[in-house]
Amino acid sequence: MNFYRSVVAPILFRFDPEWIHHRAAESLEWAGKHSWALTALKSAYKCTPDKRLGQNLMGLDFSHPVGLAAGFDKDARMVQALLALGFSHVEVGTLTPEPQLGNEKPRLFRLPEDRALINRMGFNNRGVESAANQIPGRRSGVVGGNIGKNKTTANENAVQDYLKGIRALSPKVDYFALNVSSPNTPGLRALQDREPLSRLLDSVQELNHRLESKPILLKLAPDLTETALSEAAELVLQFGLNGVIASNTTIERTGLRTKLSEVEAMGAGGLSGAPLKRRSTEVVRSLRGMLGEQKVIVGVGGVFTATDVIEKLDAGADLVQVYTGFVYEGPGMIQKIVDELNHALSTGQWVWKSRFGSSKPTADLGFMQPNS
Ligand code: FNR
Repeated sequence: MNFYRSVVAPILFRFDPEWIHHRAAESLEWAGKHSWALTALKSAYKCTPDKRLGQNLMGLDFSHPVGLAAGFDKDARMVQALLALGFSHVEVGTLTPEPQLGNEKPRLFRLPEDRALINRMGFNNRGVESAANQIPGRRSGVVGGNIGKNKTTANENAVQDYLKGIRALSPKVDYFALNVSSPNTPGLRALQDREPLSRLLDSVQELNHRLESKPILLKLAPDLTETALSEAAELVLQFGLNGVIASNTTIERTGLRTKLSEVEAMGAGGLSGAPLKRRSTEVVRSLRGMLGEQKVIVGVGGVFTATDVIEKLDAGADLVQVYTGFVYEGPGMIQKIVDELNHALSTGQWVWKSRFGSSKPTADLGFMQPNS
């Protein structure tokens, strides 16, 4: 029996989703500040990935493929505790240059019958400088910085916002994710079009190379056509980005079990979780064909189990991230997935070899990733 799913979640799900998120965030932030609490978390949710799950991607060591997607820890307040729960990497943000409140509440909804969420948070965050100060220098995993633009910044000036993000986070994060795919900031997704995207990638790379040349990934929407995807992939290759994250939430609402009237009452926003799984995996598969073997693809969307992880990896992903699955499955999710992946490898049920080679042995260091 999964205690979280059958006992804890039904209680938590009686409360407003955003209120519960903030309570969980406070607890995780608190745990991160007390070494005994972190040790307790690490031992309760001990993750011992088979070394065949480790890989060195973009010059970074990932102890296994599963990380936390952007949006859960927008302000980088929970990094230590989230890594203690077993994630190999945590992507903080989306961060904007200026702090902003985001959209009016309510803006986060559960669809339990679909194992899904709809959100229109709108990049509520305390600003990129504040997050930069929160990110711990030494940590037991990889930390990515997901950046975007403020709502009040016109698209013509969006590049400047991303440059501010790069400048502020460059000394602190291991990689960048450029978010041009959230449906909740008006006009943001238009930055995926060829012209604005070329300008953005050109400027961002130019600054990044003058600073610390951190790896950069582009986070794309699942609602792009094949043509739009292939244009974005061409630009990733042309501007020498390290890869892509596929995908963000969808604006589609097809095939849901939740009553149409309930879904309509929730209003606009991005849908995540189980209903997104198939489409985001298709996007991963298409992008692998377009990008060839040398670029990194992070598969995101509807991952709940080890089988879901394997599906994304088999479609061409190198790493996988979760958000909605973590809400539904709880804090033991990563430990369970890693145990199942270990088992699948050791019994030969699953054969997987990273295209990029394995990570360096890290057991003696407790897998400490220096803030390089
Ligand atoms: C998100 N997601 C997201 N993505 C992003 O790049 N920046 C962000 O700020 C957010 N914020 C956010 C808030 C909430 C409440 C949710 C549910 C999602 C998208 C997330 O990172 C991921 O791409 C999708 O949710 C798909 O993965 P899952 O949730 O199906 O595992």
